[in-house]
Amino acid sequence: MATSKPAKKPTKSTAKKPTTPAGPRNEKLSYTVPGVPVKDGQALAQKLQMRLHALNDLHLTLKHAHWNVVGPKFIGVHEMLDPQVEAVRAMVDVIAERMRTMGVAPVGTPGALVQARSWEDYPVMTAQAAEHLAALDLVYSGVIEDHRSLVDESEQVDPITQDILIGQVTELEKFQWFVRSHLIDDSGKLATDGATTIDQAVKQGIAADRSVD
Ligand SMILES: [Fe+2]
Repeated sequence: MATSKPAKKPTKSTAKKPTTPAGPRNEKLSYTVPGVPVKDGQALAQKLQMRLHALNDLHLTLKHAHWNVVGPKFIGVHEMLDPQVEAVRAMVDVIAERMRTMGVAPVGTPGALVQARSWEDYPVMTAQAAEHLAALDLVYSGVIEDHRSLVDESEQVDPITQDILIGQVTELEKFQWFVRSHLIDDSGKLATDGATTIDQAVKQGIAADRSVD
């Protein structure tokens, strides 16, 4: 088993922290889309920033799994993941350009992503397919749940943005189905059922894989 432990939180520096985070921040322009109050349109566009970060994080994580999966199921999983990487990269571009269209400058730097994200870095290194797939199932659940929340929030402000998000959720849920299809036993039970952390999901994935083999 090659599962690594979750990344350690960085040790606290004794240096005084700056009161404002360094690096680029969203800038507001003078407009938003026609028919939407500028304040409301820009407020929604700013909420898209976390979706941009989440999708950037997701395509990097999928590529990491593509490189580090091993074992007898290697080739199927390795090849399944690349089209997902490409599709998620395309989603990032759509979100960033929608933000700009709505009058807010998107931030696409890695430092801003790491500073803003509320989730831990993906912990799995060289590992069997069941481990990566169980971890990715939870990663997808997190991204999809947050996308769905913004689908609900955007309904009143801007149905066009809502439509973009709905289209992305449709694709993300299909990709999660691809992942989950490797984790289902003959009775229809999903190996990651009830798991709330990636480590827990990975352990359940390994146990289920052993019971099948
Ligand atoms: Fe590759």
